[in-house]
Amino acid sequence: MANKFAVILAAGLGTRMKSKFYKVLHPVCGKPMVEHIIHNITKLQVSKTITVVGHGAEQVKAQLKDRSEFVIQEKQLGTAHAVMQAKALLKGKNGTTFVICGDTPLISTETLEALYEDHLQKQAKATILTAYAENPTGYGRVIRNAAGHVEKIVEHKDASEEEKKVKEINTGMYCFDNLALFEALEEVSNENSQGEYYLTDVIEILKAKNDTVTAFQTDNFSETIGINDRIALAQAEKIMRAKINERHMANGVTIIDPDNTYIDTDVEIGMDTIIYPGSFLKGKTIIGDDCHIGPHSELENAVVGSETNIRQSVVHDSSIGSRVNIGPYAHIRPQSTIHDEVKIGNFVELKKVDFGQGSKASHLSYIGDAEVGSNVNLGCGSITVNYDGKHKAQTKIEDDVFVGCNSNLVAPVTIKKNSYIAAGSTITEDVPEKALSIARARQINKEDYVKKLNLDK
Ligand code: UD1
Ligand code: CA
Repeated sequence: MANKFAVILAAGLGTRMKSKFYKVLHPVCGKPMVEHIIHNITKLQVSKTITVVGHGAEQVKAQLKDRSEFVIQEKQLGTAHAVMQAKALLKGKNGTTFVICGDTPLISTETLEALYEDHLQKQAKATILTAYAENPTGYGRVIRNAAGHVEKIVEHKDASEEEKKVKEINTGMYCFDNLALFEALEEVSNENSQGEYYLTDVIEILKAKNDTVTAFQTDNFSETIGINDRIALAQAEKIMRAKINERHMANGVTIIDPDNTYIDTDVEIGMDTIIYPGSFLKGKTIIGDDCHIGPHSELENAVVGSETNIRQSVVHDSSIGSRVNIGPYAHIRPQSTIHDEVKIGNFVELKKVDFGQGSKASHLSYIGDAEVGSNVNLGCGSITVNYDGKHKAQTKIEDDVFVGCNSNLVAPVTIKKNSYIAAGSTITEDVPEKALSIARARQINKEDYVKKLNLDK
């Protein structure tokens, strides 16, 4: 099989983003743009992926790790200069090189494959991936001659009024014959409005040598948008979101209102689960079958079993079993494990808790740094007092415990199996098995008290 290489251009600062973060690290549907590209390129089975880094090099490297090789572009002198940095790794190698801008995260493997096939079939030295754009402002324009052959690419800023009318744009993605590419790059100059070495000039240089240069037009402009500013970022997010939602719907997930459902790329959802509007499913969230999520729930890195309902609630970095009911208005904070058939009701906050099967905290509780057994009932307003101002301490509540309303469990403390805590207690010592613990002042009724004060009505 012929050699395939990929060069991803990711050294730019992304000035138009007006951001302290490097452009290619801005997330689209939860994943940095450059990650999307790497992910799709991997499926092309290229033998070498080289990412050109400059601004934010360390962060980009840390993000991509061993999924790419890196070359540094110290000064961002243009896209041709950027590709040139890969010379030491690619020069003299036979094969086809994909060049892809790091700010086009929507491009699919299928389109890149079609580009490649066309490139091979036409035995071209360069094939430009082009698209038809209703509003081509900002993009390089593909200029064709009378016979329809590609002549050159003109950058928006360098284009004449006539050229600006052209709606076929350069997507910034190409297939090159690797040897021809590095030869032509040597000849690129920076005589243009931006004083940059444009990769797009390679086209004219190859043409002048009578090399075959062609364009492959995709009918899917939306896949090729380049993200230069926050407006394009929002557009890309919207397009990708729609695709993700369609994929889940095709797999048997009901999404009541796809325009108002925000699912990150890597999320998995089981069949017959219903996602209600205003829900955000982020990171590596995995949801089983027959769940009801939302409206207005936010799950991040949450693993959820099946037949579980999570209404108007937030779950982060936690796992939740099957047939669990959460919310409305619950907050499950990181490192919590909620077992099957649990109920976590209104205004309940959990943090770093192992919450046993069939147990309930139905209303207004804070349970943190705790281990809760099975079939435990935590009454309304139960609180684990886990923090003394300096240290966190652990509360252990064993199976079948009943905690009365408005109780404080001052950690470290263990409430042993099958015991009862009277409502309003502040528990500071361990409670033995099967005991009833009452830790509150005894009630005194002062008869005729009002009369004594002469406040009688
Ligand atoms: C580029 C193309 C334009 C095309 C558009 C498609 C050129 C000259 N222009 O324009 O024809 O329509 O993409 O989206 O190629 N980069 C570097 N080093 C540099 C300069 C840029 O690594 O010195 C990287 C950037 O980080 C970015 C990518 O190259 O990821 C494209 O650069 P950008 O400035 O966004 O180019 P455009 O003006 O969008
Ligand atoms: Ca761009």
